[in-house]
Amino acid sequence: MADLEVVEICAGAGGQALGLERAGFEHALAVELDTAACATLRANRPAWKVAEGDVADPALWRPSDYRGVALLAGGVPCPPFTVAGRQLGATDERDLFAWAVELCGIIRPRALLLENVRGLSTSRFSAYRQHVLDRLRDLGYVPGWRLLNACDYGVPQLRPRTVLVALQRADAPWFRWPTPSPRPPATVGETLGDLMAARGWHGAAAWARRADRIAPTIVGGSKKHGGADLGPTRAKRAWAQLGVDGIGIADAAPGPDADPALTPRLTCEMVIRLQGWQDEWGWTFSGRKTARYRQIGNVFPPPVAEAVGTAIRRALEHAGPPEPTCEMDPEMDTATAHVHDPVFRVLRAREDFLTARQIAALLPLGARLSRAAVLEHLRHLSGDFELETAPEMDSDGDGPAYRLGSFRAFLGQQDHARHQRFAASRATVSLRPACPDRDAPTAGAGVRSRLAVALHVADEGPPAGRAEAQGRQGGILAVTHPDITGIEPRDFDAVSICRAIGAFLPGNVIGRNSTHLGALHIQSTGGFKRPSEILLAPCLEARHEHLPRFLII
Ligand SMILES: C[S@@+](CC[C@H](N)C(=O)[O-])C[C@H]1O[C@@H](n2cnc3c(N)ncnc32)[C@H](O)[C@@H]1O
Repeated sequence: MADLEVVEICAGAGGQALGLERAGFEHALAVELDTAACATLRANRPAWKVAEGDVADPALWRPSDYRGVALLAGGVPCPPFTVAGRQLGATDERDLFAWAVELCGIIRPRALLLENVRGLSTSRFSAYRQHVLDRLRDLGYVPGWRLLNACDYGVPQLRPRTVLVALQRADAPWFRWPTPSPRPPATVGETLGDLMAARGWHGAAAWARRADRIAPTIVGGSKKHGGADLGPTRAKRAWAQLGVDGIGIADAAPGPDADPALTPRLTCEMVIRLQGWQDEWGWTFSGRKTARYRQIGNVFPPPVAEAVGTAIRRALEHAGPPEPTCEMDPEMDTATAHVHDPVFRVLRAREDFLTARQIAALLPLGARLSRAAVLEHLRHLSGDFELETAPEMDSDGDGPAYRLGSFRAFLGQQDHARHQRFAASRATVSLRPACPDRDAPTAGAGVRSRLAVALHVADEGPPAGRAEAQGRQGGILAVTHPDITGIEPRDFDAVSICRAIGAFLPGNVIGRNSTHLGALHIQSTGGFKRPSEILLAPCLEARHEHLPRFLII
């Protein structure tokens, strides 16, 4: 192994990879599932070894082949943790965080770097984070979590990321988290002014003056998100304040004939800059617009990856004076140091059942919690860990007693439910308007009509023309609406629709209420002005409440 080799899992289109390269690391291997992202990596770095497929598939790569590599890095999937999702954590088949930590036991890298969304920093996942810290310590590493904002490292966007770094004990005393840049980041206008003006749009200069802040966090990298746009309604509102139409992504900047007062859309090239890329790096993204936008939307901005990578490299080189860590100096290891979830820690240390009040009494002095707060911790951790419950045992009204069971996450088990669910959902369901990149015709307010459901193979855009016949033909399920797309209404019967959706999501509860699906409607929130303003109204009805989570256009 060369001195500074990195194995990167879930490498995407290479934001983190590029940052680590700029920090001095060399890629021994990059593993990625998405074909377009792999094409991007290969096109930009033909010499890199890129393994395409499920990173947890032992047939794809053997972690033990990379034993002793300097760094194991990854931007493992964010949907299990994002506050914009259901925060299923360890029970989400896409979760690879805890497994990536287990890889340290096999690969024994000198350092580990994993990044994820801010949601992982929230109280919902304090026990998950605690497990990660405890496990890494057991494996001989000194771990630490930080929430880093991309705008502190020169990126014109807030983009908070939860970052985990762990180093082997021998190197840990030399690690320092990177310090934020003293210079404020450029504004959106300063960053994109020249690109907006590139085709002669007369409104560009005024637009750039108005866009006088950093960008909201770019979203839209998830396949379930659908077409290329700048995110949910809240995000689009923030973009509107900057004079940007977030409904879709443009193919080009506005031309000389465009209205100077236009609210323009961003192009992929513009979003790339907002993710911290510099033109001179010459990085290109492969695939058509939606595939490219997804890759761009997912990245860990290279400047942040470079800053963290440099901090890790300096630690591996033992640059600067060492500082003792808790693990090196037990005197520093106070009861609360590096404890993310004291309730989890109490439970983990006990084999007997404990009531909430008993748990509260066992918490260390610096981490005292009320009974209600303990119960809240228990509720959160039961999302990721089995929590055995014994019925109320005493008469003091303290309620049931609890005992910690096993961690539900995928940790490398060959028989883990994750494999089956992952295979089933690999042809991801994506629901989107038929023309995600075009304005939809306007229809009257309060329209209520039947759904037309079309299944088609394309990973890019809608099927041409009319909605095609139902039936399982490929990866994408598109739900379209006649008022939006101009497609003739197709009143497929409820059972067929249900069967079609069920084929994509085996085991989903949809089937149970299949006969009610005939009543499924979509309803405008006040006029079908744009596809993204449409909600699936029945989602709010009790008997369909299990449906809508993924039925949002
Ligand atoms: C947050 S993105 C990574 C972004 C990347 N670090 C960057 O900076 O550009 C997560 C990536 O994990 C990939 N991925 C998800 N599940 C995977 C799996 N089971 N095996 C390999 N890659 C996977 C996705 O395709 C996506 O590109």
